[in-house]
Amino acid sequence: MAADIIDITKDHEGALQRACAVLADGFPVAIPTETVYGLAADATNPAAITRIYETKGRPRFNPLICHMADLAMAERHATFDPVSRKLAETFWPGPLTLILPLKAEGGIHSLATAGLDTVGIRLPKGFAAELIRAFGKPLAAPSANTSGRISPTSARHVAEDLGDKLKLVIDGGAAPVGVESTIVRVEDGAIRLLRPGGVAAEEIEEATGLTVIRPEGPAAIIEAPGMLASHYAPNAGVRLNADHVEPGEALIRLGSRPVQGSEHAVAIFDLSPSGDLAQAAANLFDYLKRADATGAVRIAVTPIPDHGLGEAINDRLARAAAPRE
Ligand code: TXA
Ligand code: MG
Repeated sequence: MAADIIDITKDHEGALQRACAVLADGFPVAIPTETVYGLAADATNPAAITRIYETKGRPRFNPLICHMADLAMAERHATFDPVSRKLAETFWPGPLTLILPLKAEGGIHSLATAGLDTVGIRLPKGFAAELIRAFGKPLAAPSANTSGRISPTSARHVAEDLGDKLKLVIDGGAAPVGVESTIVRVEDGAIRLLRPGGVAAEEIEEATGLTVIRPEGPAAIIEAPGMLASHYAPNAGVRLNADHVEPGEALIRLGSRPVQGSEHAVAIFDLSPSGDLAQAAANLFDYLKRADATGAVRIAVTPIPDHGLGEAINDRLARAAAPRE
């Protein structure tokens, strides 16, 4: 089986109708979101959710984010404290996931939440939001990649990884944010960051006047159980904070400053010549895949500032560089 690919710029209505039909049959559909491509299925249908886990090879103890069309739909499935509500009003639709107490009566199946009494919720933008509205039910959607691999930011990435396991891939072009959503949980009025992502922690602090509590290190993030240390793994090794290039390495760099030994590089990828972190985030996963595809022995990456979207970029790079099991 090879997935059908429908480009929404060519057949928007057809894409919506076909996606709804596949979802109603209980099968996952790969869809564009503003962060990364998602593998979406009916969050109330256990057979459909099981197919997500099987397609990705994902451990079942790792819960899925449930995507909603609007705040009213979200409120049928979760309870909002005042700080979470403020965050929802400020950042939705957009790249922020809130971990909230689950309202089981809403109908989200326990396979989607891995049996937890909380649920991760987000309101995406664009085609994904239209699809949820048309389908009428929340969509559970992890990133549309084999578990442990780099998340897809284009329909081509999805098709190369999972194309022969899927019925349908919706092509919405390059994902504009390029890294996954920021995940936070509010407890006793305090905001804890479980995963840095497309909304910078500083933006959350500005919107709420509260300090965001960062995880103490990569291990702490395992509370968002998907965040195992080695994740986003390319085949090549990854060397961080590189100030030079060694023979056989591909180089991923930020900014226009020359890097010593660049003449040895198998290939050079510029995340953002001007040093813009949003542009760098949008290019990150595609360049990691392309650098890997050169067959380089290692991928050297120059230092990335640890503020704004740099926090999410450094988190993903640390996982890409982590020792493999
Ligand atoms: O941008 C994104 O968030 C993308 C797009 C498709 O929306 N989705 C995504 O999903 O990155 P995924 O499955 O790759 O990552 C979801 C993360 C996992 O680390 C999971 O453990 C965590 O969210 N998560 C989901 N529900 C949770 C819950 N109730 N409590 C704690 N962590 C949760
Ligand atoms: Mg993922």
